[in-house]
Amino acid sequence: MTTASTVVLPHPSGDKRLKMLDATMKRHQYQQDALIEILHKAQELYGYLENDLLLYIAHKLKLPPSRVYGVATFYHLFSLAPQGVHSCVLCTGTACYVKGAQAILANVEKMAHIRAGETTTNGQLSLLTARCLGACGIAPAVVFDGTVLGNQTPESVCDRIQGWLENGTQ
Ligand code: FES
Repeated sequence: MTTASTVVLPHPSGDKRLKMLDATMKRHQYQQDALIEILHKAQELYGYLENDLLLYIAHKLKLPPSRVYGVATFYHLFSLAPQGVHSCVLCTGTACYVKGAQAILANVEKMAHIRAGETTTNGQLSLLTARCLGACGIAPAVVFDGTVLGNQTPESVCDRIQGWLENGTQ
C-alpha cells in the first residue's frame, strides 16, 4: 500500500507539474490553512485531484489524509476524477433539495448513464453535485460549464445535457 512518504506520481510529465505544486506549497510556507489554495493549484496543474496527489499534499502539509480528502470532496470546484469536456454541477443543498434537486439528479443520472461524480465514457460530460452554490434564491440551481442557472427542472437540465452528449459522440 502506498504511504504518504513514498508517493510516486504516475504522470508522464509529472516532474514539471510537481515542481510547480511544490513551489506553491513553499510559497504558502506549507501552512495547513492554505490547503484550499494548494488544492486549486493542484487541480489547475493536473486537471483533477487523484488519490496520490491528495496523499502527497497531506504529507507535505502534515495533515491527515482524511482531512485533505474531506476538503477535496466537499467543494464542488474540486474533482477527483478526470473532467469531461462539459461539466454539470447539481446543487443538492437544502433549498435546492426542497425545490426538487433530487428529481433533477435522478433524471440526469438515468439519461446520461452515469452517477454523480462520474464522467461519461465518451468524455463529454462530468456530473458533479454541490452542497450549496450560494444561489439558494433561484433554487434549484445548476452550474453548466461554470455558469450558474436557476429555477431548473429535470427537463431543462436534461435538454441541455442531451445536446452536449449528441454533439460529442465519438
Ligand atoms: S442550496 Fe442550492 S444554492 Fe444553496
